[in-house]
Amino acid sequence: MAKYILAFDQGTTSSRALVFDENGKVVNIAQKEFTQIFPKPGWVEHDPNEILSSQIGVAAEAVSMGKLKSDDIAAIGITNQRETTIVWDKETGEPIYNAIVWQDRRTSAYCDELIDKGLEPMIREKTGLVIDAYFVATKVKWILDNVPDARTKASQGKLALGTVDSWLVWNLTNRDKHITDVTNASRTLLFNINTLEWDQELLELFDIPATMLPDVCDSSGELAKTSGAIFAKKIPITGIAGDQHAALFGQMCTEPGMVKNTYGTGCFMLMNIGNKPIISKNKLITTIAWKLGGQINYALEGSIFIAGAVVQWLRDGLGIVNSASDIEELATKVENTDGVYFVPAFTGLGAPHWNQHTRGTIVGITRGTTSSHIARASLESIAFQTYDVLKAMEADANVEIKDLRVDGGATENNFLMQFQSNILNARIEKPETSEVTALGVAYLAGLGAGIWKNTEEIRNKWKTETVYEPDTKISTQKELDNWKKAVETANTW
Ligand code: G3P
Repeated sequence: MAKYILAFDQGTTSSRALVFDENGKVVNIAQKEFTQIFPKPGWVEHDPNEILSSQIGVAAEAVSMGKLKSDDIAAIGITNQRETTIVWDKETGEPIYNAIVWQDRRTSAYCDELIDKGLEPMIREKTGLVIDAYFVATKVKWILDNVPDARTKASQGKLALGTVDSWLVWNLTNRDKHITDVTNASRTLLFNINTLEWDQELLELFDIPATMLPDVCDSSGELAKTSGAIFAKKIPITGIAGDQHAALFGQMCTEPGMVKNTYGTGCFMLMNIGNKPIISKNKLITTIAWKLGGQINYALEGSIFIAGAVVQWLRDGLGIVNSASDIEELATKVENTDGVYFVPAFTGLGAPHWNQHTRGTIVGITRGTTSSHIARASLESIAFQTYDVLKAMEADANVEIKDLRVDGGATENNFLMQFQSNILNARIEKPETSEVTALGVAYLAGLGAGIWKNTEEIRNKWKTETVYEPDTKISTQKELDNWKKAVETANTW
């Protein structure tokens, strides 16, 4: 009897596949990095076919490891880097342009025009989002405006658009299903999160024909089935969710008020706000957490664009560490940053500042500044940015956040986690499994396939591994004031 769940975790820098057993334990895992394309400063692209081949490759690898066979896989869950946008030809199945990645800033000037026209309140009310190059709509418009013949083909109904989940499902089903789940739809600037429908007025504003859109489905249930060409048997796809939404579920933040922060390339903090959207007054965004068993659940989100990526930059750009895991040792060679603050706004600042034009800034450098101070300031910048988002979240939800569930690569860094706890004055909980995103979509897929009866059954499996308590003897106010000044400096550069 098939009883394993295969989770596709298609991320910004790598495609991963994980097999989970009925207890939510990882049995097999395979991963492949793929090419990052930077055609111009501020532009970031991926090859959609490489996304697809790497994802199918790791899935096949994970399924064939050990004694497993595709017959043992009961269901597939798909979680993905969000907002990354692909437009393809429905007849040939080929993308008409590279995937424009969520980090890409090429449509910033157009977004500014929309903001200047005063459109933000209307868009925020409908979509829960701010106007920013981060989201899907302006990327699609750019492709239609810039790729030869794209507009003509689009008006003839020959093109399809999708986020990475749509692209994968379209191909996994041999071009049979063009769908996206509600969480991914809620990142497009085209989806009304109140009515749960594509919004005609927004489609007109961004000049995107409705014929390009995928059908919107729940995050869990019988959503699609792979074609026979992919695995030896047809496997049902029973869970789909954007990666941060999957992580919220994987952290079992299923009650209103529960918060998680994922430390990946960027940092993404989400708070479950229950079944009614709250429109943020503090520059957070409102997003759909999931739709499960017919029930919609919303979340407030603070998206920080650069977190783990700052460590990659220290490695690849400055060459002051050989591998990301060396950073903790380098940073803790000094007791403090000696007044150095680093605002890593390489691609502008996300929540709660939303300044597309801010660029990375290091302040307070003296003759005595060493690579250790820069390394420490880099790690601290991740914690400070998280502080800014958490304060905005507290103000919006009118609650004090005393507990934060964390996941992602940088949670291995004990210095960072303790510093984070001190700065937030909050308890930080790290779960037993580090694979929270994949686990979240495996849970959604398992529920969709009837492997688990309900969320309650899953909640009992969730376990904390490490807890960081704030050190109340340390005063952090001066650092927070200096951080604020550093952000102001970066914003006015
Ligand atoms: O919104 C972008 C986010 O979904 C990307 O996540 O983990 O691929 O960096 P990640």
